[in-house]
Parts: sequence; C-alpha cells; structure tokens
Amino acid sequence: MKKIVNTIIYGDCLEVLKTFPDNSFDLIFADPPYNLQLPKNRKLIRENGTEVIPVNDEWDKFESYEDYDTFTGNWIKECQRILKPTGTIWVMGMYHNVFRVGKIMQDLGLWFLNDVIWVKTDAMPNFNGRRFTNNHEILIWAVKNKNCKNYTFNNDFLKKINGGKQMKDTDWVFGLCKGKERLRDENGIKSHPTQKPLKLIQQVILTSSKKGDLILDPFLGSGTTAVVAKALERNWIGIEKEKKYVDLANKRIQNYNK
Ligand SMILES: C[S@@+](CC[C@H](N)C(=O)[O-])C[C@H]1O[C@@H](n2cnc3c(N)ncnc32)[C@H](O)[C@@H]1O
Repeated sequence: MKKIVNTIIYGDCLEVLKTFPDNSFDLIFADPPYNLQLPKNRKLIRENGTEVIPVNDEWDKFESYEDYDTFTGNWIKECQRILKPTGTIWVMGMYHNVFRVGKIMQDLGLWFLNDVIWVKTDAMPNFNGRRFTNNHEILIWAVKNKNCKNYTFNNDFLKKINGGKQMKDTDWVFGLCKGKERLRDENGIKSHPTQKPLKLIQQVILTSSKKGDLILDPFLGSGTTAVVAKALERNWIGIEKEKKYVDLANKRIQNYNK
C-alpha cells in the first residue's frame, strides 16, 4: 500500500478496489456516476439563448436500473470491506440515483450517521416551468456496520471554526464550482463535467478525518479530493478510469500550492 499512497490509480474501481486489504481506509469519499439518463438529442436552452452542456459522458450511462444497481452494489461492497471499523464513508447523489444507492448501502449493512444536503445557491433553474428547480445534492454518511461506534467526528474542531457554536446543521449552503476554481481548457470548455467545489470536500474531510489519515476516492475525476486531502495533511489514494482525467488531476495536484 505504501507505494500507492498519494497517487492516482488509472483503472476501473471495480477491479482496483479488490486489490486493497480489508480495513485499510479511514475515510472514503465517493462521487459516483449518477445515471442521469438524459434523453438523446434533447437540447436545454437557457433564458439568454445559450445552450446548457449536460453530463452526457459514457461513464454515466447504464443499460437499465438493474445494471446501475449491480455496478453500485459491487463497488459499495468492496468499499465496505476496505473501510476501517473506525472509518466512515460518504456517498453523493441526486434524486436520479441516491435512493437506489441508499437502499443498497443499507441492505449491505452499512449504518447511516446522517444525510447531508448540499444546497446550491446557484443551481441551474428549471427552464420549462413544469417542476421545481433541483437545487440540492445529497450526501449519505455511514459507518461499516451498526456496531461501529468509534468513528471520527471532529465536533470540537468544527465548533472552533464555527465561531464557538456547535456545527449542527445538515444543510450545507454554497454555490457550484465556478470562477477560478473551475478547470477549463484553452477554449474555455470545462475540463471535467462534474467538478465538485473544494469547499464541499473540505467540509467532509474536516468533519470526519484526522491529519495523517488515509482517504480513498474511487471516482477521483478532476482530483478535488486529492487536492483538499493534500492541503489538510491527509494521505489519499484516488482511482479514475478515464486517462484524460487522470492526467488532469495529476497536473492539478502538482500545481497545487499549500
Ligand atoms: C461524478 S465524477 C467525480 C468528480 C469529482 N468528484 C471531481 O470533483 O472532479 C465521476 C468520475 O468517476 C469516473 N468513473 C466512472 N466509473 C468509474 C469506474 N468504474 N472506475 C473508476 N472511475 C470511474 C468518471 O470518469 C468520472 O471522472
């Protein structure tokens, strides 16, 4: 394991996860495919006439719910095996997938601590006025099984950075990853379609890990978890199956100054 700490493993997490020993990670943060199933060729146009570029990548496509559930069960089972009894796992999702993910987690015996709602202050509005704007994502926070009691929750530290008041709310309110933080290519196109805000993962890591802990992100994408882990003096391992994102994340991590 020592050799791969603080590196990105290029590969499919379904295979890579099997190579890790039992009970090896203090924290797992997973931002998996959401199976958004956007209809083919449907264009989303903003009020100002510009087109919304949706998440339409192959890695987010599944044949059916059954196919998605099998994939989800396989990676979550492995994460449960490699999570320490003192560790915790966070899994993100939206209404498209999070209820399926939650059922699978509970059926496997993972024990929920909280569900946290990331309320997006600048969510993309619903343009056709036929339903509400979906302005949030959900993070499920869980332990390996219901007997795990000694997990990390940095209550005192969170209180300190919250002006002396207990941080008790499960709604985390802030905007999408934008501006300088958002990685773009030379033509201004987003380098990764679902780059998450540093602040979100910072909150996860500060809440549930200690300096020197080992954090796993099985769907590393643009490397947000690795950048935050490095800044907060945690160790990390990332897995990513698209070479272009492995390269993007490696560059981002190298460029990152503490
Ligand atoms: C929702 S994105 C994660 C975004 C990331 N949190 C960030 O801030 O950039 C999911 C990522 O998982 C990768 N992925 C999808 N299926 C995978 C698999 N089976 N194994 C490893 N990576 C996978 C995709 O290529 C994509 O980059």
